[in-house]
Amino acid sequence: MVLKSNDLLANETIGIIGAGFLGRTLAETFIEHGFPKEKLMISYGGKPSTFESIKKAGLIGNITDNKVICQKSTIIFIAIKPQSLKELKDLPFTNNSLVVSCMAGISLASMEGALGINVFRIMTSGPDTIKRKKGIVAVYPQNDTLINILSFLSLKVHELQDEESIHVFTVGVCLPAALLIANKKGLNIENSIEIIGNEYSDFREIYNWAKDVLPVFDSERSQMSYIEHMSTKGGITEAIVNSLNSGDTFLDSLRKGIAKSKEISTFARFASTGDDKNND
Ligand SMILES: NC(=O)c1ccc[n+]([C@@H]2O[C@H](COP(=O)([O-])OP(=O)(O)OC[C@H]3O[C@@H](n4cnc5c(N)ncnc54)[C@H](OP(=O)(O)O)[C@@H]3O)[C@@H](O)[C@H]2O)c1
Repeated sequence: MVLKSNDLLANETIGIIGAGFLGRTLAETFIEHGFPKEKLMISYGGKPSTFESIKKAGLIGNITDNKVICQKSTIIFIAIKPQSLKELKDLPFTNNSLVVSCMAGISLASMEGALGINVFRIMTSGPDTIKRKKGIVAVYPQNDTLINILSFLSLKVHELQDEESIHVFTVGVCLPAALLIANKKGLNIENSIEIIGNEYSDFREIYNWAKDVLPVFDSERSQMSYIEHMSTKGGITEAIVNSLNSGDTFLDSLRKGIAKSKEISTFARFASTGDDKNND
């Protein structure tokens, strides 16, 4: 898709702080959808392996200092890990830019407390789904410009009515791996989707998305490798997978995933502030 001059991003300069897995995918997706490369800035934390990945993506010329990103970007995506947030505290963010946090687990209150500006939160499905143009994203609070931009990236946008719903949405994006195990065990999935759907109305739609993005596997081994690839140590998918493997019902495993998301959120808040007092 090629942008027309009168398009919604014609006057925008985009900065992506944290060109890791997600940040690079967003950068590549913007360019792929016709956003001018010279109006895109990215930053990273200095790891040589990340530099190599940026090089491979053809984005070396886009690497820019965080301070310059803050001064020149009209839209800024923050895609660092929560524990790196404290590194951004003294940067010259202003409310003249639309600042969007992609970080799981950091509440708006924590972000706004750390950066001193208004922030919007998004939660995306994994980079692989974004690359395949099958990505979904939750947005909070509602913002028309942001929703248009995310739709422009071929993401299906879910507008959250409250920030807490992000925990259920996050479990939703972990569903592909969970479904593989639950199907193999012959668990009652429909009933669980209905119950969670009563609490968060988009859940059935996300379930349908999860079924749609599941790859076709040629062996048991490739299925296992997919599940492992989806699970970060100590993360939400892992909590759901472990719960299923220990014999829990599908509903209980989803509940444990939601609880894990909340727990990570509490931990991330402390890690992002670097407040040792809170680490007990
Ligand atoms: N990956 C996903 O599936 C996914 C989905 C939804 C949300 N998220 C959220 O997206 C965020 C990033 O996840 P990820 O998987 O992309 O992690 P990642 O690959 O580790 O990317 C984080 C990047 O931030 C960079 N960074 C660290 N400190 C920085 C600083 N001061 N300035 C600029 N860049 C800095 C790191 O650079 P170095 O490598 O040089 O240290 C790294 O490249 C997380 O908060 C996560 O919750 C991820």
